[in-house]
Order: sequence, then structure tokens, then C-alpha cells
Amino acid sequence: MDNFTFYSPTFFAFGKDTENDAGKYVKKFGGTKVLIHYGGGSVVKSGLLDRVQKSLDAEGIPYVLLGGVKPNLRSGLVYEGIDLCKKENIDFVLAVGGGSVIDSAKAIAAGTVYDGDFWDFYSGKYIEEALPIGTILTIAAAGSEGSPDSVITKEEGMFKRGATGNALRPKFSILNPALTQTLPAYQTAAGITDILAHLHERYLTNTKEVEVTDRMIEGLMLAMVHEGPRVIADPNNYEARANIMWAGMMAHNNSCGVGRSQDWNSHDIEHELSALYDCAHGAGLAITMPAVFKYVYKHDVMRFAKLAVRVWGCQMDFDNPEVTALEGISRLEIFLKSIGMPSSFAEIGAKEEDIPTLVKTLCYGNGRNGKLNGFVSLDEKDCTNIYKMMV
Ligand code: NZQ
Ligand code: ZN
Repeated sequence: MDNFTFYSPTFFAFGKDTENDAGKYVKKFGGTKVLIHYGGGSVVKSGLLDRVQKSLDAEGIPYVLLGGVKPNLRSGLVYEGIDLCKKENIDFVLAVGGGSVIDSAKAIAAGTVYDGDFWDFYSGKYIEEALPIGTILTIAAAGSEGSPDSVITKEEGMFKRGATGNALRPKFSILNPALTQTLPAYQTAAGITDILAHLHERYLTNTKEVEVTDRMIEGLMLAMVHEGPRVIADPNNYEARANIMWAGMMAHNNSCGVGRSQDWNSHDIEHELSALYDCAHGAGLAITMPAVFKYVYKHDVMRFAKLAVRVWGCQMDFDNPEVTALEGISRLEIFLKSIGMPSSFAEIGAKEEDIPTLVKTLCYGNGRNGKLNGFVSLDEKDCTNIYKMMV
């Protein structure tokens, strides 16, 4: 196991009606004037925004509203949010929504206390300081409610890139699984896929002797494989949604990823798809993961075979472990299809003729040096081959 530091100070309030305590938590964490940030309208329609406003009113905390965050959010609204926070002397940002809203809130929180262009953080500058952030999560997926990360697309160049810093870890996150019951089945499935990707990309490690985190990841994967179909069959299954919601947090606050090298090549390859075609991030991952895994499994056949046996229940073929490794990847593909996820470029509106553009942005865009460094190092030619496998 490698040396590591781990800092995860987020206070979690989990369960039914917990959003009604939002005002109390903002006060507890020092907020005196709040930006409430939200998306395209689901929280207005469900009445959640109204309940959050009432909760702040009850504590006598003033707020300003900024809605309109789109899935795969763009940088434009972030600049607007930063200006608004500065003008209104905001000292706390409350995100009400999914990963896109939370990531936008994080960018605004960091950009408000920074003199330069906030995009510097998405070009590699570590985030040391940000306004405090709280979240009320409405979809189990990105894990941004517990992570130090934010992912945004810059309109000029269509670069989808991440920023990080412990200052971005939310002060509090409110997780009420009942709030996710209004999700369309496709978004629920995309969220499950994203959670599985966060687990896979930690599982694909070159670090030896990491049995504890291996077992934690396998346990969370098994739970997702069990709970996923239950929630697709019955969207109102609160208990299944509760398990998925907590798994989503655990999968990405990095408690399963400490002390080990991680992958993230599937994420980087996918981010070009959701940037260019505006598909759901999880749907893009459903196509990307199997292709990447089939491309790289020979680098460590036994790691893939172990996953196949422990998570997918495959029989170990000791004479030919490659068979077991490939069977595990195939079981993942079947699972993703069974919950309604796509399996080809065409299903997300992607086009084969765009592959050179995708590869160029992926490998060289926003200051990259032509290589993706993960479980296996990938260059331009590898990435082209992988995109071709998805067609
Ligand atoms: O905008 P509204 O109207 O709220 O609708 C959203 C949106 O259309 C809808 N939705 C959310 N909760 C709902 C709901 N509809 C009905 N009922 C509810 N309860 O779902 C759609 C998708 O929302 P979005 O926030 O985009 O989903 P998700 O949480 O999957 O976030 C995706 C973004 O997170 C980034 C992705 O790249 C993508 O941009 N990621 C962020 C990470 C992080 N910060 O750590 C890591 C991830 O790997 C990921 O890259
Ligand atoms: Zn993800």
C-alpha cells in the first residue's frame, strides 16, 4: 500500500425530510448570505426549492437564487455566478441538484475568492481556497457531494476538464433518497453506471497488497449489481435508492481509493463524448468502460479475473485466466444493457468521423501532452483504437 493523506470533513445528513434542515446546517457552518444554485427546473417542479427557501427563511438567512445549470455544465454560467457572489457579498454556496449543479457551485465558490480566471483551476492549478459549500443531492451518480472535485466544459474549445482541492469538499451534504424518486429511469441508470465506473477506476490499480480497499470496492460493486435492477423495476423503492445513494458517496469520496494508484482513463475518454454530444456522463461511460477494459486487460489479467470471480460470480479458469477476465467484462456489458444503458456510438449520437477530433482534444486539448496516464498509459493511437471499438 502507498503512503497517503485523507481528509474528508463533510457532515452528512441522510434520510427522509432532511432537506428541511438546510437552513440549520447553513447556520451551523457559518453562512450568513447564501447563493442557492440549481439546475433546469426539476427542483422547482418537485417543490424542493420551495422547501429549501422556507428552511433558510426560518433561520433568518438571506439568499439569492441562480438556476439554469445544464447537464454537462458549461463555463458561462459560472462566470455569472462569480459576479453575482461578489456583488451580493455571498459567503456560502448551496447547491440543490445533481453533479452538474454541485460542480458549478464548487467552481463559483472557488472563483469568487480568486483574482484570476477560474478556468486556471481546470487547467491544473490546485484549489486552496473557496467559499464554503453545502449540497442537497437529487441524483446518486457523480459523488460530488463528498468529493474534492468539479468537472466543467469550457465553451471555447469544448474542453471538459476537472479541478480539485480539499477546499471544495462540501461542509455538509443532505442526502434524502426519496428526492431521487422523480428521476427518469435513464438518468437513474446513468447514475448507477457512473458509480460503477468510479469503483472500477479505483480497482484498476498497479499498487500491490491493497486487499482492504479491493474488498470495499468489490462490496460496493456487488451492492450496485443487486440494487440497480431493483430500482429500475420499481422507481419508488426507497430502500434500494437509499443504498445506491450512499454507495455513490462512498464510491467517490476516495475512502476506497487511498493508498493505491488509480486509473481514470475511461473517465477522460468519456468526458470528450459528453462534452461534444451532450450525452449523460454515465451513458457515455457505459460505452467507454467495456472498450477500455478489453483494450487493457492483458496488462494485468489476474486483476480482471479476480473482479470477474468476486463480483460477477464467474468460475476461475486456472488454465486460461484470460477467459475469466473477458467473461467478467462481458458480464458488465450485459448488466449495463439490462438497466437500459447504451452500448454503441450511435445510441448516444456519436459519429465515427468525429474520432480524430475527439482524440485531438483528449490527448492535446487544454495543455495535455499526448498521453493519458492510468492503469495503462495510452497515446493517440491507443485512444483512436478504443473509440473505434465503441462504434
Ligand atoms: O437540471 P434539472 O432540471 O435538475 O435536471 C437534471 C438533469 O437533467 C436531472 N435531475 C437531477 N435530479 C433529478 C432530476 N430529474 C428529476 N428528478 C430528480 N431528482 O438529471 C439530469 C442530470 O443531472 P446532472 O446533475 O447532470 O447529473 P449527474 O449527477 O450525473 O452529474 C453529471 C456531471 O457530473 C460530472 C460529469 O462529468 C457531469 O458533468 N462528474 C463530476 C464528478 C465530481 N465532481 O466528482 C465526478 C464524475 O465522474 C463526473 O465526471
Ligand atoms: Zn464519473
